[in-house]
Amino acid sequence: MAKQLATLYRTAFVTGASTGLGRAFADMLLAEGVRVWGTARAAERLAPLVGERFTPVVLDLKDREGALAAFRAAERAAEGFDLVINNAGYGAFAEFTAVDFGVWEEQLRVMLVNTAALAHAALPPMIARGRGALVNISSLAAEFPLPFQSAYNIAKAGLSALNESLMLELAPTGVVVLDVRPGDYRTDFEGSVRRPQSEFTPRMERAWRAFEALMSSGPGPAHAAASLRRALWRRRSGTVRTGRFSQAVLAPFLARFGSLALKRRLQARYFNVR
Ligand SMILES: NC(=O)c1ccc[n+]([C@@H]2O[C@H](COP(=O)([O-])OP(=O)(O)OC[C@H]3O[C@@H](n4cnc5c(N)ncnc54)[C@H](OP(=O)(O)O)[C@@H]3O)[C@@H](O)[C@H]2O)c1
Repeated sequence: MAKQLATLYRTAFVTGASTGLGRAFADMLLAEGVRVWGTARAAERLAPLVGERFTPVVLDLKDREGALAAFRAAERAAEGFDLVINNAGYGAFAEFTAVDFGVWEEQLRVMLVNTAALAHAALPPMIARGRGALVNISSLAAEFPLPFQSAYNIAKAGLSALNESLMLELAPTGVVVLDVRPGDYRTDFEGSVRRPQSEFTPRMERAWRAFEALMSSGPGPAHAAASLRRALWRRRSGTVRTGRFSQAVLAPFLARFGSLALKRRLQARYFNVR
């Protein structure tokens, strides 16, 4: 029988395990013999996963203290996590100035500040044990920002910056940090993107249609879980770009050789917002 990830990671905590990428990560880990504590904002969303090796955790990243308390209770029950995956997140699509700043503030709180707080809580026991892995799910949006999703782009760029900082800081500790940057995957994400601006401008319409087409034609979430599985086996900190070849391999490669101005022009064309 092939060796299972459970030989490296006995226990895992996965935020946003109810659907999409988080669900695929949880499924992959369970199939690898890992005991998984997975979160959603409502317990019933996790019902299909509940089983001998899966424990549901209710957690809303809007509420930092509540989220940290839920994490600590799960950590006690698991007797420590070998793997923590910060995956939960959502999109918000609007012109930056057309909606109340509170829309962006909430997204930054959920996806950057409180996500970083979970990493801050998860790392000390791993550092003390000299092993474990922290995976923060960023996005290719960290390097190729999405039009009309300004706070999402900030959150993901910030999370990738945190990952880079931790890779440097934790290098001698034995703790692995993975900066996972997916391209467009076919998940519930597009359906759950908040659209607080009541009327779209023609440029927004075009960007939204391009975004929808890219999301719905992307690979399924199991593809991202397979990338994560390979990265976890490597047991080395690093950046994991994953998705279709043109987004995860070709675009980052070409971006190294062009100017930022050229990159910006090509992105505007990609989203049809020239
Ligand atoms: N799909 C893509 O193409 C893509 C590309 C790059 C990066 N990503 C990133 O991958 C991650 C997962 O995205 P996905 O595509 O799998 O999206 P999804 O299918 O919409 O799933 C999002 C997950 O996050 C949870 N969530 C949302 N808001 C939350 C909150 N305030 N507190 C706690 N949990 C919350 C949801 O749980 P509930 O059951 O509570 O709703 C759900 O489990 C996100 O960080 C996203 O930015 C996705």
